Formats: sequence, structure tokens, C-alpha cells
Amino acid sequence: MSKQKILITKRVYPDAVEFLKGRFEVDYEGTNAGLGTEQFIERARGCGAVVSQLTDKLGAEVLARLDGVKVIANVAVGYDNVDVPAATARGIAVTNTPGVLTETTADFAFTLLMATARRIPEAHAFVHSGAWKTWLIDLLAGQDIHGATLGLVGLGRIGAAVARRARGFGMRILYCDAMAAPLELEKELGATRVGMEELLREADFVSLHVPLTAETKHLIGRAELALMKPTAVLINTSRGPVVDEAALAEALESKTIWAAGLDVFEAEPKVHEKLLALDNAVLAPHIASASVATRRRMSMMAAENAAAALEGVKPANLLNPEVWK
Ligand code: DGY
Repeated sequence: MSKQKILITKRVYPDAVEFLKGRFEVDYEGTNAGLGTEQFIERARGCGAVVSQLTDKLGAEVLARLDGVKVIANVAVGYDNVDVPAATARGIAVTNTPGVLTETTADFAFTLLMATARRIPEAHAFVHSGAWKTWLIDLLAGQDIHGATLGLVGLGRIGAAVARRARGFGMRILYCDAMAAPLELEKELGATRVGMEELLREADFVSLHVPLTAETKHLIGRAELALMKPTAVLINTSRGPVVDEAALAEALESKTIWAAGLDVFEAEPKVHEKLLALDNAVLAPHIASASVATRRRMSMMAAENAAAALEGVKPANLLNPEVWK
């Protein structure tokens, strides 16, 4: 019997490729560029599974043109790049990689918060430039982290992991979420649930931990930024479109808020021109989950999800269980 076929759309860690090659016929696009839409559709033909990445935009029209694909295994916890309801309607299973990246992403969110508050990129550039002449009372003065108020928008796995780090800095923790967290978790984290407006008014640091959906698109826009303190810092490691980037650039330029640390952008890899020119915008190229160990685990987890589905076993991280009969 001929082996089932699987498409990997872009470079992943090699152990995942080897694992799949041991079981299936693998079409591996091992490049950084990945596949364009037409190439993707062409190469997916005859494949039972696709290991995709967040740069693969798998909307309803693309899914409608897939022939024989039973499972899309996305190498990310976020899956806004896949139209899951459209996949469900076509009986295509969709999986993601939750859990394995929680702590690494929380490490990075807190790193970004600290780097932004204490102006590390500016300090680094300043010393490298040779401009450092003397000790000055207000040289690169930043904002205190210890004892400050952290406002978490979203208290899921990653938001809670950020709160645990903040506890070590004696921060007061506020959160808003559509659902109240279990009392035990609130107690463990010392976190208080408040409304969005109160969170924005009270927080010294606002950190975003929500998925991108129709409801969370531009959750932070001009009106929300105007509620924040002029000393406040916004941290985004969730998805770019959760923030209205043009409104944020204006708020940073006019000092409506003090600074922002951003790992994600509205039209990656494009970054709003104004943000590129501002010292109070600390920017990173969507690397919050990028430790070697975690990205390797994510690659492997997606491979295992794809393999399970092709072998008739319900994948561990199935997003649309209704397709599994
Ligand atoms: C995700 O997993 O959704 C991140 O954005 C990439 O790790």
C-alpha cells in the first residue's frame, strides 16, 4: 500500500520532518519563504495532511480548493490564519500547538515589558554610538516595574504565566476577561477582575493576551489609549491587529502614553512607518515563543497532530472536534 502524503509548507525543526518521513511520503518546502497561495493549493493536491504556519493564510476560498486534505496542523497556538468554521464545513480537522509555548512566551512578554520600561534598546544604541560622555541624573530614566500595577487583557494560560512573573516584582495585578478566572487562580495570582475601562485607567503596564477574533480586532484604539496614563506602557505579544497601529503610533508620538513594546504587527512583516522612527516603541519580529527548545517542540507537536489524524487517531490538539467521527 502506498504511503499517505503530507505537505510541510515552510521550514520547521528537522526532527519533525524526520518523524514524518518515517511514516509518510513528505513534500517538504524547507525554505524561509514558504509557499504562495497557488503553489500551496497545487502542492497540497493528493496530500492528506498539511503542516502549516501562521504565514499561510488559509481562508475559505483556499480551503474550498483543497482536494483530499483531512487535517491542517498549524505550528502555532494562534490560528487566526485558518478559517476554522470553513474548514469544519468541509470536514477538515484543524490543530494548533497550545501549552508548549506558554512559559517561553510569558518570559518574552515580561522581558519586553522590562526592556521597554527601562529603555534597554535605547541604552544599548547610546553606548554603541559613543555618545556617552558622563553620568547624568536623568540619563535614560525609565519607569519602575516593582510595585507598579499590571493590567492583563486576557487571563488565559499565557496571561496567568505573565502574572506569576509579575508577582515576583511585587506588582498589583488587574485583569479583564470575558470569563472570570476560577477563584483559586485569582487567589494564587493575587489578581482582581475589573472592567476594561478601569484596567486602562489604573494600569502602569497593559499587556495583551487575547486571540485575534472579530471581537478583539482593534480592541486597543484611539479611545482606549486616551484612557491610559501618560506614564503607561503597552505590551503586545498576542496578535498585531488587536491594536490599531496608526492610533498607537499617534499616541506614542504625542506622549498620550509613555511607551510600547510590540512583538506583533498589523501587517507583518510591515511595521507602521511612524513606529519605526520612535524611540519609545520597542519592536521585535514576532519572536515571543522563539526559544530553540520551544520552537522545536512546536514543530514536533504539529507533526504529531498531523500524523495522528492521518493514522485515524484523534489528534491531541483538535480545534474542531465536530469533524471527528
Ligand atoms: C503562536 O503560537 O500563535 C505565536 O504567535 C507564534 O508562536
